[in-house]
Amino acid sequence: MYYSEDVIEQIRQENDVVDIISGYVRLQKKGTSYFGLCPFHNEKSPSFSVSKNKQMYYCFGCGAGGNVITFIMEYENYSFFEAVKFLADKAGITLPEVEYQEEQRTHEKKKALLLELNKEAAKYFYYQLRSQNGAAGLNYLVNRELKDETIKQFGLGFANKTSQDLTNYLVDKGYLKEDIIEAGLASFHEKYGVMDKFWNRVMFPIQDIHHRVIGFGGRVMGEGDPKYLNSPETPVFDKSRNLYGLNFARTTRRDHYILCEGYMDVIALHQAGFTQAVASLGTSLTSGHANLLRRYTKQIYLAYDSDQAGVKASLRAIGVLKEVGLSAKVIDLSPYKDPDEFMKNLGIDKFEERISQAENSFVFEIRNLEKEFDLKDPDGKTRFFNEIAKKLCLFTEEVERENYLEAITVKYGMNRDHMRKLVVSHATKAGYVAESEKYKTAGKSKVSMEELKQRNQKLLLTWISEKPEIYQMIRTYISPNDFTKDIFQKVAIRLFQEIEEGRMNPAGIISMFTNEEEQREVASLFNSKLDRLETKQDKERALHEIMLNVKQTSLEYQTMQLGADVKALSKVIELKKEIEELRKANISLENNDE
Ligand code: GTP
Ligand code: MN
Repeated sequence: MYYSEDVIEQIRQENDVVDIISGYVRLQKKGTSYFGLCPFHNEKSPSFSVSKNKQMYYCFGCGAGGNVITFIMEYENYSFFEAVKFLADKAGITLPEVEYQEEQRTHEKKKALLLELNKEAAKYFYYQLRSQNGAAGLNYLVNRELKDETIKQFGLGFANKTSQDLTNYLVDKGYLKEDIIEAGLASFHEKYGVMDKFWNRVMFPIQDIHHRVIGFGGRVMGEGDPKYLNSPETPVFDKSRNLYGLNFARTTRRDHYILCEGYMDVIALHQAGFTQAVASLGTSLTSGHANLLRRYTKQIYLAYDSDQAGVKASLRAIGVLKEVGLSAKVIDLSPYKDPDEFMKNLGIDKFEERISQAENSFVFEIRNLEKEFDLKDPDGKTRFFNEIAKKLCLFTEEVERENYLEAITVKYGMNRDHMRKLVVSHATKAGYVAESEKYKTAGKSKVSMEELKQRNQKLLLTWISEKPEIYQMIRTYISPNDFTKDIFQKVAIRLFQEIEEGRMNPAGIISMFTNEEEQREVASLFNSKLDRLETKQDKERALHEIMLNVKQTSLEYQTMQLGADVKALSKVIELKKEIEELRKANISLENNDE
């Protein structure tokens, strides 16, 4: 922690959550809250709420939530400290430098220097492209049908033929050779000394989502090896957490993203109006990329090369995307190799058509799997069907699985019941379920049981945060120890303490945590959906039930510890007594509780 809690709290309070979010999302007042379309997932009707009282936001659709700092982290893709800094600037608060640790300060300074060097280099390459030296480069790009406007938008440039050109330029500007090397713009050779990394290439600056240049891709004009040369990873260039084109794509109005392989594909698609296109940076797709994408969309259309390598890469990408909960479709580009060539030959309307015809990733997987088997051979056929069954097992949603089962059985003329039996037998073998008949729901109901237990704990925390006056009654029966998840317990301890001191501040509790996932979870604790109960009696009954459920879960949890923890037994006995008392208790709310 580099800033004190007080400073962070001051910054948070000076930035009203409604004001800040209004700068990004159109909000409408509805009762005590504001509503709008969630910027973190695609939706048609607003489920994104911002509360002035609570100084928090929460999306009932995708679960995004937090305080004003979380919002800036999520929206701007900032770290906790970057977000705090951003908001401090906005409020005109000068951050106390002293609280920055020395090591961190040098690191930040280094990053700033490397960004500056990349920016200077980009400006230099850009200028060269338009000068005499760069004529060949400009000619190359124009021949590839890039418009002047596009070349400008993507900041394309040219690295001169001579091999110390950029280094000399930067050294003249006062930069040190060792820093130029660290920025990945030059390297040291025993024989020649410091030499530019890029020469005689057209240059593609790679930008992060804030349009800062973090690295480059350089292409030979025509044939040559390597075709593309890319900047090495540096403290500002993390290839697995950045995507080419995302700085433009993030404001697209489309409900999906197109993922391609090459820089030129992204540029050609943007030029044609497909501003939802991005590419990974000369590396295969990582879970870092997938997590990044998940912030912006739920649906990915793959537009990888149509050759065998591209199909293989697509199959891999489908898995990576699925793992973070993104669904994928595959765009067929045949007979062309990649989106760039497709666009040149068939144009915008045909590409749009291919988007609408994109193949569901599961069907794509099965179609490619099929090639590995000889379906004329009964044995090959059986093995193929078994593989399909295995894949079907991976769907946890029954409806989804049934839909695919139906589609696949129709396609291959199989008997549906037969396939269902195969799926059951695989599910049982693979240990997804204990008994075959239960395969449909077993996996899922286990999860929801856990969720249900947590939900009661969340409901209770939300209720207390909205009506802190009930805490005095609740504390007789419930203590922070009754919350079974570590993060819930931390929040409960803090919340209860704040109420006792008469200074409850849930939005502040969120910034006790500096990690986005945790902040999101804490926000969900204060924003669970309380049923709209009419009468005081109904409310009392509901509250009583929630308290009992929380207590019961606490007991189960302690019972599980029996054997592992000697103190558990006395806790279990104690809890049983408390539950009995709570069961008999008369839970009464104040009359003025509307
Ligand atoms: P063009 O021939 O310019 O149209 O290239 P492309 O955009 O069609 O790219 P291609 O499908 O050949 O390659 C996809 C991506 O892989 C490129 O954008 C580069 O990021 C990366 N790449 C391609 N060739 C090389 C190479 O030789 N070395 C490295 N390191 N990366 C490469
Ligand atoms: Mn290409």
